[in-house]
Amino acid sequence: MRVLVTGGAGFIGSHFAERLLADGDEVVVLDKLTYAGNEASVPHAAEFHRGDVALREDVEAVGGVDAIVNFAAESHVDRSILGPTEFVRTDVLGALVLVQHAHERGIRLVHVSTDEVYGDVTAAVREDAPLRPSSPYSASKAGGDLQVLAAVRTFGVDACITRGSNTYGPRQYPEKLIPLFATNALDGQPLPLYGDGRQVRDWLHVQDHCAAIEVVLRSGAPGEVYNAGGGDERENREVADRILELTGADPSLLRSVEDRPGHDRRYALDSSKLRALGWRPERRFEDGLAETVAWYRDNRAWWEPLKSGEYRAFYERQYAERLRS
Ligand code: NAD
Ligand code: DAU
Repeated sequence: MRVLVTGGAGFIGSHFAERLLADGDEVVVLDKLTYAGNEASVPHAAEFHRGDVALREDVEAVGGVDAIVNFAAESHVDRSILGPTEFVRTDVLGALVLVQHAHERGIRLVHVSTDEVYGDVTAAVREDAPLRPSSPYSASKAGGDLQVLAAVRTFGVDACITRGSNTYGPRQYPEKLIPLFATNALDGQPLPLYGDGRQVRDWLHVQDHCAAIEVVLRSGAPGEVYNAGGGDERENREVADRILELTGADPSLLRSVEDRPGHDRRYALDSSKLRALGWRPERRFEDGLAETVAWYRDNRAWWEPLKSGEYRAFYERQYAERLRS
């Protein structure tokens, strides 16, 4: 297949592009290269187009493909709290443009969504659970999902949705919990743990997440939603403690700071529908976390330049006051 991977210069999309190429597919990447996109992460064997998924003409300029997998998004909850507009543009309007394109071309769209659309939960949820997003990010992702599902129902578009849990691994932008804490620990900088640190996330290695999306691309039923959870739930404070151990950093770097507004306490997914298609996560969190921290230790040249300019401005805005008080 010739597959359009939108957001293929970002964290999960770039791993997914590598995976398809290794399987013998052709890959075309369309990415706007926002602060989170890195052209160096796009595999050399992929065709690269710089462009915006929310602009019809940019999507049309890519030319013929057999399927689209949409990773393009504004993806960070804290940034959505500081400024939600771009989230609506990319995560809702972008999804709409892509599902319309898939309809016009008669091709499959796999829309990559998130467990955050369910809001916080007390037990593992299935795909038919109500959408109760808590943040501007997750509300935008839910909006994108609803546009895709409406196009399935109204126009019969061949689209599937995946809802993955918290993903980690090499090449994740150092604003998310694991890469932020790993790189700060390696630099002897504070690790700002929100609130009581007892919030629970269900960790999924990036390779396992990409495997899930590939199964849906190749054998998902049209119009269906598939959860993909790692099944490795951990409290944030456990993750922070483990990162301190793995880096050998001073435990006093861990700082309890003012909580994220609207912070979801727990995400947990029932992934039995996707497991019935043959998928299951293969990496244990303990091993995946150790490998990931080792990757950040060994690849300073990848992340150090990212922690300047715009990143510093965001970091100041998000953490300076929290770390002072
Ligand atoms: P990321 O922030 O690392 O990458 C997003 C990519 O999209 C970047 O390369 C960026 O340049 C690109 N992009 C942003 N706006 C664009 C636009 N308008 N047009 C074209 N490209 C644009 O994100 P990620 O962590 O790789 O997440 C990928 C997808 O997976 C997102 O849809 C996210 O909601 C979803 N997801 C992420 C996680 C996670 O834990 N990271 C978990 C579940 C689902
Ligand atoms: O669950 C899937 C989602 O996981 C994806 O849809 C999002 O794109 C991705 O960013 C992620 O969202 P989270 O908000 O769960 O991830 P984040 O890494 O920002 O935070 C993970 C947990 O760690 C969360 O409970 C907040 C906490 N945290 C995070 C940061 C950045 C801290 O305590 N301190 C921090 O500085």
